[in-house]
Amino acid sequence: MIKVILDCDPGQDDAFAIMRAAQHLDLLGVTTVGGNGFLPNVTRNALVVLEQIGHTEIPVYPGHAGPSTHELVTAPNVHGKSGMDGPVVTEPKRKPEEKHAVDFIVETVMNTDDVTLIATGPLTNIAAALNREPGIAKKAAGLYIMGGGAYAGNWTPAAEFNIWVDAEAAYKVFHSGIDLHMVGVNLTRQCPVDAKFIAGLRAIGTHAAVFSAELCDFFARGGDAHLHDACAVAWLIDPSLIESAYLHVDIELNGTLTRGMTVTDMRHLQTTKRDVDIDLSSTARWDDHEEGSPFRGQAPNTHVAMRLNYEKFVELVQETMRNYL
Ligand code: BDR
Ligand code: CA
Repeated sequence: MIKVILDCDPGQDDAFAIMRAAQHLDLLGVTTVGGNGFLPNVTRNALVVLEQIGHTEIPVYPGHAGPSTHELVTAPNVHGKSGMDGPVVTEPKRKPEEKHAVDFIVETVMNTDDVTLIATGPLTNIAAALNREPGIAKKAAGLYIMGGGAYAGNWTPAAEFNIWVDAEAAYKVFHSGIDLHMVGVNLTRQCPVDAKFIAGLRAIGTHAAVFSAELCDFFARGGDAHLHDACAVAWLIDPSLIESAYLHVDIELNGTLTRGMTVTDMRHLQTTKRDVDIDLSSTARWDDHEEGSPFRGQAPNTHVAMRLNYEKFVELVQETMRNYL
């Protein structure tokens, strides 16, 4: 099984990421970061999810409460007061670990071969780990993030929430040289949490499935929700679910309208007469242009998720929920 650490800020969609990772990956630990909600809430929520699915052996390490450069902005409008409103649950019996998330990430990656990192919240902890030990970028097997978007935002017209919350951390990560897989909102918009999806979960009837359906009832109350974070985990579990393009992505730190945008260089994808027909396999054309030419751009640094097989994604989520009690 693939060894992973999941850094998250649960979050209804983070909860799905945890539930899938705990079953299909070797989840060495869950680390938490201030994002959707404040750190004590998201840490409690991670413990709740693991308890609901009977995985209390997986440790939870709290990390940074927010960005080092500015105040944290949370999203109670999306996730509710607790950061993961919906199901009524008893408080978790377990406490989180004493060790800081960044210590856990650095020690685990540097002392274990082939650990893949997954981040489904702001990149504050991952950037701090890279600052502490730059060797992580090469030692880790890779990093899968939910964040950003190729020409799409959700928190602002240009920026996605996780990147916007701590753009400086994202800049550090995207410039670190780590093998980076980006699941942005251009992809997760293909993953709706609609009435059919929720009914499908509820019909399974296991405790985990009903818990998941109740998370979705709240998450989708406004009628336009997407299961963002589960897509990043799903890509690692089954790479055939997502088609991607290898592109150069950089983070806008200064734009007055575009701060936090993942500026994605799609100029060298082979185009046909219609944009929807873009040939995603033609990503290496960046070096067709001479060095110094403004059209050459920079070498690709990110596998950018572009197309999701939603039907198969749903089947796999259902299978996960069926396998839990
Ligand atoms: C991201 O922000 C959070 O609200 C979700 O959990 C997801 O990680 C989507 O923009
Ligand atoms: Ca999240």
